[in-house]
Amino acid sequence: MTEAQLNAGVSKSKISRHIYGHFAEHLGRCIYEGLWVGEDSPIPNTDGIRNDVVEALKKLNIPVLRWPGGCFADEYHWKDGIGRRESRKRMVNTHWGGVVENNHFGTHEFFRLCELLECEPYICGNVGSGTVQEMSEWVEYMTFDGESPMAAWRQENGQEKPWTLKYFGVGNENWGCGGNMRPEYYADLYRRYQTYVRNYGDNRLYKIAGGANVDDYNWTEVVMREAGKMLDGLSLHSYTIPGSWEEKRLALGFDEAEWIETMQKSLHMDELITRHSEIMDKYDPEKRVGLIIDEWGTWFLSEPGTNPGFLYQQNTLRDALVAGIHLNIFHNHSDRVYMANLAQMVNVLQALILTEGDKLLLTPTYHVFEMYKVHQDNELLEVAFESPLYTYGGVTIPQLSISASRDYHGKVYVSICNLSHEADASLSFIINGLQAGRVSGQILTHTDLGAHNTFESPETVVPSAYEDAELADGVLSCALPPASVVVLTLE
Ligand code: AHR
Repeated sequence: MTEAQLNAGVSKSKISRHIYGHFAEHLGRCIYEGLWVGEDSPIPNTDGIRNDVVEALKKLNIPVLRWPGGCFADEYHWKDGIGRRESRKRMVNTHWGGVVENNHFGTHEFFRLCELLECEPYICGNVGSGTVQEMSEWVEYMTFDGESPMAAWRQENGQEKPWTLKYFGVGNENWGCGGNMRPEYYADLYRRYQTYVRNYGDNRLYKIAGGANVDDYNWTEVVMREAGKMLDGLSLHSYTIPGSWEEKRLALGFDEAEWIETMQKSLHMDELITRHSEIMDKYDPEKRVGLIIDEWGTWFLSEPGTNPGFLYQQNTLRDALVAGIHLNIFHNHSDRVYMANLAQMVNVLQALILTEGDKLLLTPTYHVFEMYKVHQDNELLEVAFESPLYTYGGVTIPQLSISASRDYHGKVYVSICNLSHEADASLSFIINGLQAGRVSGQILTHTDLGAHNTFESPETVVPSAYEDAELADGVLSCALPPASVVVLTLE
C-alpha cells in the first residue's frame, strides 16, 4: 500500500491549458486525408475540412494547434499556399516521403481549421531556407489591419479582417533539419528574424525560439544567454523511442522488456525539464519565458507496408501510459512548462485519431487526453508520496506517476498511472484542505498490453467507469490494475 498526502490547500502553479496542445504537419496523411479532404470530397466536410475528425477533436477542448511543421516548416514558403488552389505551386515534400505537396492547405485553410476546432493557432516560420522578409511579410499578411501590400493581398484572397495570432515560432529544430546550425549562430539569427516579426495593432505575438534536442543543454544555455530577453518561449523536443533512433521498434508486437523501456524513457522527460529549467532559471529567475515542449510522443518504426516517410504507426495501451505519464510530468512542472504539443494530431506518430478513407478511429492516446482535460487551467496541487519500485529485466523505475489539480469550482482531480505490466497498485491518500464527500472516476486499461483499436474493432481500448476508489474520513483509497490510467474526481 502506498501512503500519499494530497494537500488540496497548497496551490503550486497554474496548469496552463496549452499543455494540451497539438501539432499537425504536412507529413504523410496528417493534413491531407486526415484533416483536409477538399470541398469536392465525398467525405463530409466543411470548407474542405473533415467533419468527423473535427467533431471528435472538439471533445478534447484543444487549446492550440502548431502548424505547418516540423521539418516541413523550414522548407515551407507561405506564398505558395495562398490564392486560387488550382494555381498553387506544386512542390516536393522532400522530408516526408518525397510526395507532391499541392499547397491546397495553406494559411487560410489553417485558420479555418482553428476556427472549427475553436483553438488558437501556433505558426512556425521558416528560418532554415526562408528570408527575413518572407517571415516578416507572413506576419503582416496575417495580422495587419489597415493599408499595406500584404493586408491588401489577404483581402483579395477573401479574408477582410486580420486574424488573431499569438504564438509564432522562429524556426524549428534549427540544430538539425532546420539548418544544421550551431546555437551561437541560431541565437544571432533568432535575434535578427524576430526583430521583423512585428506586433501590429492590438495583436501581441508570443515569440518562440527553436530549442534544444532532448538533452542538448548547451543549446538552451547559449540561446537563453544570447537571446533570452527577446523571446517569450523556448522550445524543447523529445520523443519516446524504444530501441534507438537508428534502430526503432514496432508499435505492435512488443514484449515486457520493451514495455518497461518505454515507461523508463517516458519518465526521462522529468529530468529533461528539470535540467533545462535550471538553465532557464539562471537567465530568467522570474520564469517569464515558457518552456514549450512543442514535439513529444512515441516514435516507432512505421507500420509495415506503409510509406516509411509517412510515420504512420498504431497506438496501443502502451501509448496511453506514455501520454498519461507525460501529462503528469507537464502538470508537475507547470511553473515553467507553458505549452506542449503532441506529435501529431492525425495519422502520424502518436496520433489521437487514425483514418482510412471515410473511416476514423480514436486511439488510446485520444482517450487519455479526453480523461485528463479536466486539469486544463487548474491549480496544481501538492501530492507527497514515495512510489513503490517496478523492476523487470534489470530495469528499475517508479511504479506510479501522479498529479493533482483543483478547478475553479473547487473540484479536485487526481490522475494516476500504474506503469507496471504485472503488479496492482494500492494507494491511500490522506486529504488535507478539502472536505470531499464523493469520489468518481474513469479508467483506461486492458489485460493485453498491446491492445489497440482497429477500424474493425474501434472500441477495444476505451475508458470505463472506475469503481475501485473509496472516500472515508478524509482518506481516499484506490486500487489500480497493472498498466492502467485513472482520473479521479473529488467533490
Ligand atoms: O514530428 C516529426 C518530425 O520530428 C518533425 O518534423 C521534426 O521537427 C522532428 O524531428
